[in-house]
Amino acid sequence: MDRTFVMVKPDGVQRGLVGEVVSRFEDKGLKLAAARLELLPEERVIEQYREHLEKPFFPGLKAYIMSGPCFLMVWEGKDVVAIVRRMIGATNPAEAAPGSVRGDFGLDIGRNVIHASDSPASAAREIAIHFEPIELIDYSKIDEPVLYE
Ligand code: RTP
Ligand code: MG
Repeated sequence: MDRTFVMVKPDGVQRGLVGEVVSRFEDKGLKLAAARLELLPEERVIEQYREHLEKPFFPGLKAYIMSGPCFLMVWEGKDVVAIVRRMIGATNPAEAAPGSVRGDFGLDIGRNVIHASDSPASAAREIAIHFEPIELIDYSKIDEPVLYE
C-alpha cells in the first residue's frame, strides 16, 4: 500500500478542523498509520519546505507553520498520494474546488489549512522527516476486503 504525509496547519488546528479532516479521510476508506500534534522545530519546517527556501513567501510561510501546533499524519491506501491531493484541493483556497478541504474551509493562499505530499517521492521524503519507522503502525483494518477489489 502507498503512504502519504498530511498535516493540518496551525490555522486548521486553531479553527478546530482536525476532526473534520480526519473524518474525511476515514470516510474515504483510507487507513491512518501515524498521527501527532506538534509544534514543529525550525529545522524540520525548513526541511519540509526546502524547495521554497529562496521564494519571497518563505519567511511568511515559516512563521505561519511555526505559529502554533500542527497535526501531522500518515495515511495509507491505494494511490493515496494523488487521492489526498485531490481531496485537499488547489494551493489557493480561493480557487480550490468546493468539496475539497481548502475549497470548503479556506480563503487565502497564506492560510490554506492543510498540507499533503505532492508525489510518492515527496511522501517518502516527508514521512522520514517527521516520523521514525517505529511510529508507522502496520495493521489490518476490518473494512479492507470490501474497499478493494
Ligand atoms: P503544501 O506543500 O503546503 O501542501 O502546499 P502546495 O503543495 O499546494 O503548494 P506549494 O507550492 O508547495 O506551496 C507551499 C505552501 O506555501 C504557501 N504559499 N504561499 N503567498 C504565496 O504566494 C504562497 N505560495 C505558496 C502556502 O501555504 C502553500 O501551501
Ligand atoms: Mg507543496
